[in-house]
Amino acid sequence: MASAFDLLLFFLVCSIFCSTWPTASGGVPDHAVVEKFERWMAKYGRAYKNMSEKSYRLGVFAKNLKYVDAFRKSGRRNYTIGLNQFADLTNEEFVATHTGLRRPNAASKPPASPCLYQNLTHGVPSSVDWRRRGAVSPVKDQGSCGSCWAFSSVAAIEGITKIKKRKLMDLSEQELVDCVSSNFGCGGGWMNNAFAFVVLTGGITTEAKYPYVGYQRGCDFEKLSHHAASIAGYQDVPANDEGALMAAVSHQPVSVAIDAGGLDFQLYTGGIFSGPCGTDLNHAVTVVGYGKDGRRIKYWIAKNSWSSNWGDHGYILMKKDVAAKEGLCGIAMAASYPTV
Ligand SMILES: *[C@@H]1O[C@H](CO)[C@@H](O)[C@H](O)[C@H]1NC(C)=O
Ligand SMILES: *[C@@H]1O[C@H](CO)[C@@H](O)[C@H](O)[C@H]1NC(C)=O
Ligand SMILES: *[C@@H]1O[C@H](CO)[C@@H](O)[C@H](O)[C@H]1NC(C)=O
Repeated sequence: MASAFDLLLFFLVCSIFCSTWPTASGGVPDHAVVEKFERWMAKYGRAYKNMSEKSYRLGVFAKNLKYVDAFRKSGRRNYTIGLNQFADLTNEEFVATHTGLRRPNAASKPPASPCLYQNLTHGVPSSVDWRRRGAVSPVKDQGSCGSCWAFSSVAAIEGITKIKKRKLMDLSEQELVDCVSSNFGCGGGWMNNAFAFVVLTGGITTEAKYPYVGYQRGCDFEKLSHHAASIAGYQDVPANDEGALMAAVSHQPVSVAIDAGGLDFQLYTGGIFSGPCGTDLNHAVTVVGYGKDGRRIKYWIAKNSWSSNWGDHGYILMKKDVAAKEGLCGIAMAASYPTV
């Protein structure tokens, strides 16, 4: 009875997934692809619950492998992609589980003060890297939780705290995930809501005190009461103006919303990313600097929250001063920063 059921299950699973296997000649996955997959699994310590899950992931991996190979053959681009730790996820799965920006509609948007740096666009340095000035904590990992908004706002608060109080602290994203009731925990959120919360509660505690677990729990008010850093308010950078964003970033790390929806973004491994991407804002990162490379291509330095295994040691360089006023992937559309 059980074996008949197993057989049925096998055919069921196979009828769904075998068609997605990239096969040299129908049915069985290419031996070289399977070998690459096994090596990739070992490298990233990946294990699957059962055979059907594994064969499904093999199919996804093979598709991504094909995409990466085609990208490499297509020749000169100024960035690279590769089979990183997200190579067994489809782009849809990836965006659904690893981003998490939810922009409030105009009516419920918390008002921000006018930009402190609005009229200070002259004499802005041509390059800035807040990492070199010790204002950026190590890259963190949001995991499979739509909490990018918490990581983006915490990195901005860590930055301004170091700049104004001369102390770099590792602050708590989990506090924001658990306690910011105007956001949706792992279901997404908005940086200004997080800043508003920190203003209202009078501060934010440390990563050590309220460590990240990657899912939403009840707000721990006891932990929350240990304020390690505080902010007085927050401001929006004037929208769709990379010059204004540059002026703001020259003063402090800035939270930005971006469209990180593309497969190239998911599999990015280095260089100056230039798209393809749209302006459908679904992710948040923190711009911690900008500059230009040897060929004078200008870029933003964005700190991401997908661990230091992703991208360029956890960062992505995004092309700066593009033709579209929204900036690449909408980076200039909704930037904001905390004030102390
Ligand atoms: C295999 O694991 C996946 C993912 O956990 C699960 O959804 C699926 O039901 C499992 N299938 C079997 C046959 O156990
Ligand atoms: C890559 O950089 C070169 C040199 O500046 C530039 O001419 C070219 O347009 C860039 N390619 C892309 C796809 O952005
Ligand atoms: C910047 O300049 C504009 C135009 O002169 C002015 O209306 C605005 O209040 C100024 N903003 C700040 C923050 O000083």
